[in-house]
Amino acid sequence: MATRTRSGTSNRSKSSTSRPERGSTSSQSSESRTRSSRPGNRSAFSWGDNAGPIIAAALGGAAIGFAANYGRKFLIQGMEATIGDWDEILATEHDMALAIFDKMLATDATQTFKRRMLLMKLTHALDKHSHQEEMVVYPALREANEEADADHLEGEHGYIKTFIYELNEMGADASNWLEKVREFRELVSRHAHMEEEEVFPRFKKVLSEEQNAHVTSLVNRDGFWMA
Ligand SMILES: [Fe+2]
Ligand SMILES: [Fe+2]
Repeated sequence: MATRTRSGTSNRSKSSTSRPERGSTSSQSSESRTRSSRPGNRSAFSWGDNAGPIIAAALGGAAIGFAANYGRKFLIQGMEATIGDWDEILATEHDMALAIFDKMLATDATQTFKRRMLLMKLTHALDKHSHQEEMVVYPALREANEEADADHLEGEHGYIKTFIYELNEMGADASNWLEKVREFRELVSRHAHMEEEEVFPRFKKVLSEEQNAHVTSLVNRDGFWMA
């Protein structure tokens, strides 16, 4: 048993010099109006003289956004990395997903916003989790001649996605929403149990300390990009 513990530049001003516009006042040529409405004869799409600070602010905002995103990833995956080995990280993620299911099962049909938010959270959690298993753990299982289990588990991930699809399609106020969530939880619980109680411990037993550390680092790396 495993120990718990994602300018153009306009040339329109040139043509306006040869063709006066209808309804223009006699003393003002279209050229002069064009000039007056476009200081410095710039295209409407060109950057102004004062664009520097705007660009700097935009780049600054983007940098803050990247930093915040990376900060979030470091926080999430950093916390998971302290949990322990790859199997312990994945077991903790199973518990987190099951806890979201429990919150979903505690809702009623009037709480559609809450249901949608929880479904989104669950989708993200399962997406990250499945990615770590499908990109690292299951391929490593196949390498260790455990193809049958790896294929079976990966096949079940397909049905997990099918449940998410069905819940999104049926709407959060559907009369059978809770029933569908309950069935979905049972599948995830059974799947997690097989991983934690059978497949992962058996696989971990044949891994050297070095191989185990390598799988853990790969799971952490994949989880970081998916966080
Ligand atoms: Fe899985
Ligand atoms: Fe899993």
